[in-house]
Amino acid sequence: MRILSGIQPSGRLHIGNYFGMMEPSIQLQNEGEAYYFIANYHSLTTVHSAAELRDLSHELAVDFLACGLDPDKATFFRQSDVPEVTELTWILSTATPMGLLERCVSYKDKEAKGIETSHALFAYPVLMAADILLYDSDIVPVGKDQKQHLEVTRNIAQKINHRYGDGVLKIPAARIREATAAVPGLDGEKMSKSYGNTIAIFEEEKALKKKVMGIKTDSTPVEAPKDPDHSIILELYKLVADEADMAQMEAEFRSGGVGYGDFKKRLFGSLWEHFAPMRERRKQLLTEPDSVEKVLTEGAEKAGAVARATMKRVRDAVGL
Ligand code: ADP
Ligand code: TRP
Repeated sequence: MRILSGIQPSGRLHIGNYFGMMEPSIQLQNEGEAYYFIANYHSLTTVHSAAELRDLSHELAVDFLACGLDPDKATFFRQSDVPEVTELTWILSTATPMGLLERCVSYKDKEAKGIETSHALFAYPVLMAADILLYDSDIVPVGKDQKQHLEVTRNIAQKINHRYGDGVLKIPAARIREATAAVPGLDGEKMSKSYGNTIAIFEEEKALKKKVMGIKTDSTPVEAPKDPDHSIILELYKLVADEADMAQMEAEFRSGGVGYGDFKKRLFGSLWEHFAPMRERRKQLLTEPDSVEKVLTEGAEKAGAVARATMKRVRDAVGL
């Protein structure tokens, strides 16, 4: 089984990224042949400073390794180190109906947020399809917001196979871990760097505390029972607390007598503790830029070999 996923170097990683995409990917590296990459071609749609893109790519590599991506198990590389993906993008584009891209909500969202539109932003899902299809991927672990892009990928692959013959491209499937597919942000909306409601994985201690204490709550007084079913605090606590602590907090919501401030302090403590081992590894990795670079270079060599084999098959099939 081949597992593949990518993440853009376009800002600090947050706990939505972690629980939605990174942790599931890290778990899956034990279950098959895993390929994970830094989607820097994709980030060119929004990051327009060369120095910034380089820094963000390096930081992302450090952070993913710190979180547990194991280069002895998974092949980890930068998207742009295997440029064959751009050739496949062009070929896939010829089988991509305009309407398919016009229906993509991520483009419409970005446009609505005032991000400068471009052909690349519109064609973003075709490059993503090429990422997935180039490596003959079986499953793609992602958060819920990427589900539509996986449907687009499947659709394009089926069109190519219909045109040029079954088996030219392998049809992949999304793997979405429902329990953590849409982590809420500080304001209760989906956590996303473009909403400014994130908790970074590697937040400074003071900043983390400030953010957690600022989570939106209603004005129920300390003594009164509180609704455990619509609480951002509990939804986030569930991600990092063990079952007994979670049950206890739920019970205290129901019984009343404990204020939101106390619950938030507990949430802060659990979040800080949960990421402690990763923070330690990150500190070490930040002192070893060359070894991080080596992981990515070796990963690109392995990924490149798979990519070239697929491209040979595709070029033959389409008549190039
Ligand atoms: P953002 O919305 O902050 O820009 P990205 O689009 O870069 O995040 O997402 C990278 C990966 O993290 C994707 O697989 C995405 O589905 C996942 N992801 C992002 N936000 C969340 C969230 N709030 N809950 C679960 N998964 C998420
Ligand atoms: N579009 C994804 C995101 O914004 C990143 C991505 C690019 C990706 N190529 C991919 C994810 C291939 C999975 C597979 O998060």
